Amino acid sequence: MEIKAGPLGDWTPEQIEAAGREVMALIREHFEGIDETPVLPDIGARELQALLAAPLPEEPEDFGAILQDTKTRVLPHLTLWNHPRFFAYFSITGSAPGFLADALAQALNVNAMLWKTAPAASALEQVVLRWMAEMIGYDPDADGVLVNGASLATFYALAAAREAAGFDIRQKGMAGRDLPPLRVYCSEHAHSSVDKAVIALGLGLDNLVKLPGDEQHRLDPRRLAEAVAADKARGYQPIAVVAVAGTTSTGALDPIEDIAAVCREHGLWLHVDAAYGGFYNIVPAVREQAGTFHAADSIVANPHKVLFTPQEVSALYCRRKGALADAFSLVPPYLRTAPDDGAVNFMDFSLQLGRRFRSLTLWWVIRAYGRQGIIARLEHQLRLAQELRARIDAHPDLETVTRSLYPLVCLRAFPREWRPAWEAAGGDERSDIRAAADRFNAALLERVNGTRAQFISHSVVPEGYILRVAIGNIRTASRHVDELWQALTGALDSLPRDLAHWLPESPAKEAFT
Ligand SMILES: Cc1ncc(COP(=O)(O)O)c(C=O)c1O
Repeated sequence: MEIKAGPLGDWTPEQIEAAGREVMALIREHFEGIDETPVLPDIGARELQALLAAPLPEEPEDFGAILQDTKTRVLPHLTLWNHPRFFAYFSITGSAPGFLADALAQALNVNAMLWKTAPAASALEQVVLRWMAEMIGYDPDADGVLVNGASLATFYALAAAREAAGFDIRQKGMAGRDLPPLRVYCSEHAHSSVDKAVIALGLGLDNLVKLPGDEQHRLDPRRLAEAVAADKARGYQPIAVVAVAGTTSTGALDPIEDIAAVCREHGLWLHVDAAYGGFYNIVPAVREQAGTFHAADSIVANPHKVLFTPQEVSALYCRRKGALADAFSLVPPYLRTAPDDGAVNFMDFSLQLGRRFRSLTLWWVIRAYGRQGIIARLEHQLRLAQELRARIDAHPDLETVTRSLYPLVCLRAFPREWRPAWEAAGGDERSDIRAAADRFNAALLERVNGTRAQFISHSVVPEGYILRVAIGNIRTASRHVDELWQALTGALDSLPRDLAHWLPESPAKEAFT
């Protein structure tokens, strides 16, 4: 059947179904062959641009040709985030109920800006927000909203905190006024989205106080209290603290309760960035250690990182009722609607007016797996991470770097032959050996990813250059971690082990990126 647009209007319903079947067949084929498919593409930017460059199409094309091109010219050149050997960044994963819900939601093109423009979407948003609050351990009656990502959620939370600080910045702005510097605090390990929020809110990066983390990369409440007291003594105005549940580099969990105590003492807003760690709180063993997040004034958790939901869905909550609306609600005459008892207009809680039907995706995903199914899958990830850590600990050339409560495994290679030199070295020599180890690890990452069969990522922390293995894909099974282990140890054995090769000014210098 030809699937081609006529002179006016959309494809017919029959054509939509026929095209949909072909797309579904392609998706099926993709997942059937996923184990044999590389995670990473092998093409340079210029070559790819040349491959896809084409003049603006003049006439309707047959969908068969579009799909064929997608198959041959697009799919092979993607990094496959839904691949079971994708271990990079936060291995985030969509699931079938999630992407199918997205397809239906997009077919309906719902706009969830007002209750009236999307009643069931808004009502479902309330339902899934309550379910997710229960999962992470937060007040189910808090104000909440689905947004596109944690970066914007943190921006919205800090905007609410700025407004709640009482300077009426919403009305009066910040320029040309006698305002003290408004200070925000986090650890040096907090995500760069905090920096971006501070930039966009006009607070200034100089007023983001990044405190050194403790030995486990956590924000130290004692240092926080000292910094806040020192700032107050200088006439500065502390307004907010951002604590993290699952830092990006190593998955550290800041001590939320102790930080909250400092915030209470000084009247500060506590925002918790639980983009990564939040949903692991549905696992009883994790919650036992992490506690709940009730002490936070606001919190963000990312279904699109942990809850098997495709990009872009983040849940933002604020238990200070009305604070998000104080910052963002603005209703021009053309958006006014008749009162409807209980109706919530989600446009009131963020900058976004038109909003996708994200709640359907969450409603399908959460119902399709259920609480127990979600727990089982997250526990499985945690188990795989534990097994990998045990292998690393038993290997003479590898060491784990901090131990996250979450399934993010951070490691660093240090060839055993280097240990005597390390033990004998003084300060400068040690920093040379550390730099050599950084290069060695960077080269190791290149080799592991070089085969394109698996994808891990890196970070730089006080211990140096580390490799990160995030286990979070819904399809990742024990055999995929075995395959990664073979790739990692194989790559390790293939690198030159002579320390001199990796020292500064050695040929390996180029390898460090
Ligand atoms: C701890 C943390 N917070 C925030 C973000 C930003 O998330 P998003 O991509 O949803 O904006 C990330 C991204 O990885 C993160 O690791």
